[in-house]
Amino acid sequence: MTTVGEPDRAASGGRRPWARAPGGAARWYRRDPLGFVEHAARERGPVFRLPDDESLCVADPAEALRVLQDEEGHYDEVSDFFHVRGGRLGPRETQVAIGRAARATLRTHLAAHRERLPAIVAELGEVSEWPSAGRAAAHRFLAGALLRPDSPPPLRELMAQVMQHDVLIRPNGRLARVTRRALWARVVRALAGEVLARRAGSRPGRPDLLDAILEATPPDTPATQLAQVYLLLFRTSVAPVGHVVAWTLLAAATHGVDLAAVPAESAVRESLRLWPVAWLLGRPVRRAHQVGGVRLEPGESVSVCAYLLHRDERHWPEATRFRPDRWDGPGPRGPYLPFGGGPFTCAGAVVARTLAADLVAAVTVGARLEVRGGRGRPHVAGIITPPPFQLRRTPCQA
Ligand code: HEM
Repeated sequence: MTTVGEPDRAASGGRRPWARAPGGAARWYRRDPLGFVEHAARERGPVFRLPDDESLCVADPAEALRVLQDEEGHYDEVSDFFHVRGGRLGPRETQVAIGRAARATLRTHLAAHRERLPAIVAELGEVSEWPSAGRAAAHRFLAGALLRPDSPPPLRELMAQVMQHDVLIRPNGRLARVTRRALWARVVRALAGEVLARRAGSRPGRPDLLDAILEATPPDTPATQLAQVYLLLFRTSVAPVGHVVAWTLLAAATHGVDLAAVPAESAVRESLRLWPVAWLLGRPVRRAHQVGGVRLEPGESVSVCAYLLHRDERHWPEATRFRPDRWDGPGPRGPYLPFGGGPFTCAGAVVARTLAADLVAAVTVGARLEVRGGRGRPHVAGIITPPPFQLRRTPCQA
């Protein structure tokens, strides 16, 4: 990569450097976003415009941290995470309280039920299809924390459909998108009804994620907003965790790493480096300023690219190799932002990483693993989903 603020990029305002790319840059980016940004960074350096929305992609470590820390208040201060229909759930203190409450619910569940993980992995069977098996395992484990078993059966049935139809990931194709939107709307209506019912009278028993959100928000918060935030948190607790486990298994098989011989935490950290599922972190510009020599105006946006930062050879030797051993000992290491950075850092980072590592250990311990497939391109829509692969897990004789 070249350095920030090269004269030609600054002179062109960083705009449309590949307008003449064969087939159109936007189409190329849509087809293969990761390949596109890798090419762009090689050709243009670590700050360039993305061809779909002209957002400024940032893959320079110092500039990326400056954007995420935002000490000068250049960006909108509300996290995209709480973007709900018709606005954003706020104020900021409420958002932070929701994040903390969700984290506490999952952490308590993980501490209380960790020993169930081997049985959950065994339920996947000797041959399982990934990455959906990863999402299914994360969901099965967290189910009781996400939605209380005594919730109304129609709501439980709808949430089961959310899992069955992979509503948690943005699908390709118009029909799939329409079906997904329709189910999403039905689930939001059902959840909003449940919010009203729970406000009218609390039930005894261990609180779930919805109770945690209710507890953390003022009582006049619209029920549909809470339902949407619940769904976002439900999705975040299941899909990225499942995908991190899937990426870890796939990367280990591709690079010939025996997962039984390395700490699961190191394998998960390394898989999040190579394949940061949340690969692009957007920030809407509120005040005019410059990033990497490019002037930005209010209304534009910046996208910090964790994927490129994590593969920068200047900071990560053998950057494209899956090497869990780089996490042995205290460091130093390169830029690492799988959970973002600054004031909007992921509220669930530790619990997500711990659950992913526990799941990887449960898959790995006492079994021989064989991966088939997984050679296609990742599906990139919001988060990075690994290409489909099959896992054969043969229990070893004790
Ligand atoms: C492997 C799993 C996960 C990954 C990779 C991940 C990644 C991220 C990233 C990158 C951000 C920052 C987005 C930005 O800066 O624009 C974020 C925010 C957030 N995440 Fe996670 N996340 C994961 C799991 C979870 C879980 C399990 C929870 C549940 C507690 C959670 C709750 C949140 C919340 C509440 C925010 C917004 C923080 C704020 O604005 O204050 N995440 N996540």
